[in-house]
Amino acid sequence: MGYQVILPAAGQGKRMGAGKNKLLIELNGIPVLIHTLRVFEEDEQCDGLILAIHPQDEAEFHSLLKKYHITKVKSLVPGGKERQHSIHHALKTVKDGGIILVHDAARPFIQKEHINRLNETAEKTGAAIIGVPVKDTMKTVRNQMVLGTIERSGLWAVQTPQAFRVSVLLEAYEKAERENYLGTDDASLVERIPHPVTMVEGDYDNIKLTTPEDLFFAEAILKKRKGSF
Ligand code: CTP
Ligand code: MG
Repeated sequence: MGYQVILPAAGQGKRMGAGKNKLLIELNGIPVLIHTLRVFEEDEQCDGLILAIHPQDEAEFHSLLKKYHITKVKSLVPGGKERQHSIHHALKTVKDGGIILVHDAARPFIQKEHINRLNETAEKTGAAIIGVPVKDTMKTVRNQMVLGTIERSGLWAVQTPQAFRVSVLLEAYEKAERENYLGTDDASLVERIPHPVTMVEGDYDNIKLTTPEDLFFAEAILKKRKGSF
């Protein structure tokens, strides 16, 4: 079955320090935003996308969608102060029924096979997220003092997309708004309903472009995919 996508793209990219929205940075001559959109444009299961955008980017985003022949973006909605607000604005415009994916526009390396596995899982369970087992040893630290070591088995680093039945995500966002809860991902809101969330194993390439070093990793991933690494 098909799915719809909310693509939060309304950030400022402050940590990237590019002086503009990091989604406009080009990789192989193509903006990050377009790399991400193309994955969904080319997936026949994707029925359409809603972009949450900052008003200052509106004209440029419109012209990029045209230039790169992106046809599946159904609407652009104004973003909010935090990522969660941007997604809520977009979610309010989604018709109930079916599966909605939330995917950070700043993760251009998501692969179709993972999207499809996530979508199938969410159809069965109502909520599914993608992530990878943590590789580093994790410690809690306060004032530069190590308080302890966290058992690593069972720890996963969470990525996007995250997929939900529309009704489940709506309920989660309404509860979070009522209770002034601000989470760092969508599943954390769903967990609070409470509603069970299933983890789907993704891959380590699905990085979020956050700081300038990530652009070097991005170039390496692109090279690897072209078979020249
Ligand atoms: N985002 C959004 N609305 C916000 C903040 C973020 O739609 N108010 C989007 C970003 O555009 C990005 C995704 O959420 O695609 C993940 O956020 P993040 O990586 O933090 O991006 P930025 O907020 O742009 O970066 P920074 O926090 O460094 O300013
Ligand atoms: Mg941010």
